Amino acid sequence: MHRPKVMTVYGTRPEAIKVAPVIKGLALDDRFRSTIVSTGQHKEMLAQVNSMFDINPDYDLKLMKHGQSLNELVSRCMLGLDEIITAEDPDAIIVQGDTSTAMAAAHAAFHKGVKVVHLEAGLRSGSIFNPFPEEANRRVVAQLASLHLAPTSAAKDNLRRENFHSDDIAITGNTVIDALVEAARWTSSFQDERLEALANTRDRVVLVTTHRRENLNVMTEIGTAVHDLAVKYPSVYFALPLHLNPLVRNVVMPKVENLDNVIVTDPLPYDQFVSLLSRSSLVLTDSGGVQEEAPSLGKPVLVMRNNTERPEAIAAGTVKLVGTNQSRIVAEASLLIENRAAYVAMGNAVNPYGDGRASERTIAAIAELLGVGDRLPDFFNN
Ligand code: UD1
Ligand code: UDP
Repeated sequence: MHRPKVMTVYGTRPEAIKVAPVIKGLALDDRFRSTIVSTGQHKEMLAQVNSMFDINPDYDLKLMKHGQSLNELVSRCMLGLDEIITAEDPDAIIVQGDTSTAMAAAHAAFHKGVKVVHLEAGLRSGSIFNPFPEEANRRVVAQLASLHLAPTSAAKDNLRRENFHSDDIAITGNTVIDALVEAARWTSSFQDERLEALANTRDRVVLVTTHRRENLNVMTEIGTAVHDLAVKYPSVYFALPLHLNPLVRNVVMPKVENLDNVIVTDPLPYDQFVSLLSRSSLVLTDSGGVQEEAPSLGKPVLVMRNNTERPEAIAAGTVKLVGTNQSRIVAEASLLIENRAAYVAMGNAVNPYGDGRASERTIAAIAELLGVGDRLPDFFNN
C-alpha cells in the first residue's frame, strides 16, 4: 500500500509546542511516512522545545539571525525549503499558525504542487496590521491550504464567511492543549533558585510574558507597568521569563531588574513554564499560546493587546483585553490583586480551545485528505 509522506515544517517556539503532539502521532501511525523540518527561525527557544518533546528534525535550515528583516527571513526560508521539498517529494506539508515560517512554507509547498495542511486555521483578529504580520500570514496560508484544521467552531465560522468549503475544514481543538496535557505528566523543578524557592511558599505570583512585534514600540509602557505593580504590591512576586529578542530585553530589563519581588529569567523550558503557570494566580501576557493554556488551568489572564484572534476565553470570562497603556494595565491588575470577588469571577477553568485529542483529529483528517483513512467527529466547544 502507498504510504503517503507528510512533511511537518516549523520554526518558532509556539509552533514547535503545537506540532509536537502531531509529529509524535505521525511517528506511531503506519499509514504515513513522516519528515520533520525545522526552519530554525528561533534557535535557543526552539532547541528547548525539541529537547523537551524529544524531537529531532531531519532538516534544520538554521535561519535565525539577529536583526534580520521579515523579507530576508521569508526569502531565505522559501529558498531553503525549495531544495528540501525537491529532495523529499512529500504528499502534504503541515504548517502551523501564523508565523513567517508558516507563511513561507505554505507558499513553498504551493509553488511545488504539494498539498498544504493548515493547523490552527481560521483565527481572525479582523485587522491585517494587528497582530503584524501574523494576521496577514494566517490569511495567506488559508488561501493556499487544501485542508484547514480549525481549533474551534468560531474559527470554522470565520473560514466559512470567507467562502472556504465546509468539506475542507475540520474542527480539531488546539494541539496546544494536547501538549499541556502531556506536560502535566512531567515532574519538574525550577532551575532558577528564586522560582524554586517561591514554588514552596504561599506567596502570590503574577506571571508576565511579552514579545509581540506590534508591542515593541510600547515595551516601555509594559515594563513600567510591571515596575509600578511590583512597587505597589511588595508582597506579590512578578515572574518574567523574558523572550530572547534584544528589542524586548533591552527595554524591559532596566525597568524591573532592581526590584526584589521581580524575578526575570531566560525563556523557561516548557515543563517549567507550565509549572510556573500552574503556580501563578494571575497572568499578564501578549502571547497567543498562553491565552489558550492559562484558561484551561483556571488562571485569569489580562491580555496586553488591543485585539485578539482568540475570543473564546474572553466570552467565557477568564480572559480580558486591557490594551498596552501603562496606567490601564496597572489599574486592571490592581483590581484583580485587591478585589477577591473580581478575581474569583475570572478564575473559572474553561476549555474552549481543546480536550487533548486535537492531534488525533488532525491525523485522521490528513488521512482522509491523502486517501488512507477517515476523519473523526469534530471537536465540540460550545
Ligand atoms: C516570532 C513570530 C511570532 C511568534 C513568536 C513566538 C513571526 C513574524 N513572528 O516572533 O508570530 O509569536 O515568534 O515567540 O514569525 N531570538 C533569539 N533566540 C531565539 C529566538 C529569538 O535570540 O531562540 C531573537 C533574535 O534576535 C531574533 C529575534 O529574537 O531575531 C526575533 O525573532 P523572530 O522569530 O523574528 O520574531 P519573534 O518576535 O520571536
Ligand atoms: N512558553 C515557554 N517558555 C516560556 C514562555 C512561554 O515554554 O518561557 C510557551 C508557552 O507555554 C506557550 C508558548 O511558549 O505554549 C507561547 O509562545 P510565545 O508566547 O513565544 O508565542 P505566541 O504563542 O504568542 O505565538
